[in-house]
Amino acid sequence: MTASVPISLEVNGERVDAHVLPRLNLADFLREHLQLTGTHVGCEHGVCGACTVRVNGDIIRSCLMLAVQAHDASVQTIEGLSDSGEIADLQAAFRVRNALQCGFCTPGMLIAAQDLLTQEAEPDRARIREHLSGNYCRCTGYHAIVDAVEATARRRRERTP
Ligand code: FES
Ligand code: FES
Repeated sequence: MTASVPISLEVNGERVDAHVLPRLNLADFLREHLQLTGTHVGCEHGVCGACTVRVNGDIIRSCLMLAVQAHDASVQTIEGLSDSGEIADLQAAFRVRNALQCGFCTPGMLIAAQDLLTQEAEPDRARIREHLSGNYCRCTGYHAIVDAVEATARRRRERTP
C-alpha cells in the first residue's frame, strides 16, 4: 500500500494542509479534496487547457502537476480569481459577447486570457489566438472569445491614466 504524503500550500490565499497519495494530480486534489470544481478536467494529458490554474504566478495545467509538487506553492484557481474581482471585467465581456456556451472550457480560458492581459496591454487578435491556442473550446468557434479578450484589453487601456 502506498503511503500518503503531507503537503502544505496556499490555495486562493488560504493555507491548506493535507495528506495525499503521491500519484494524485493537482487538478484532482483541487476538485476532490478542496471541492474547487471550477477547475475542469477534460483530456487529462495536457492538451485541452480546461484544468489551467496559476501556480506561483504562472499558469500551468493542473492535470500534469502532482499535488505533492505544489507543496509550499501559492495556487490560484478560477474561484480565487473570480471572488477577488480580478477578472470581473473579463467575465462580463465573456457574457456580453456570448463567449461561452456549455462553459466547460471557460475557467481555463479566463485564466489563460488574464495571464496574457497581465503581460501585454495591447495584444492584437493574432496574439490573443496564439496565447489561447492551448485552450480548446468545442462550442464557440473562438471568435467571440477573442472579441471578449480584445474588448477587455481595450477597456483596461482606457481606464489606465
Ligand atoms: S485536463 Fe489538463 S490539459 Fe486537458
Ligand atoms: S463553451 Fe463549450 S467548450 Fe467552450
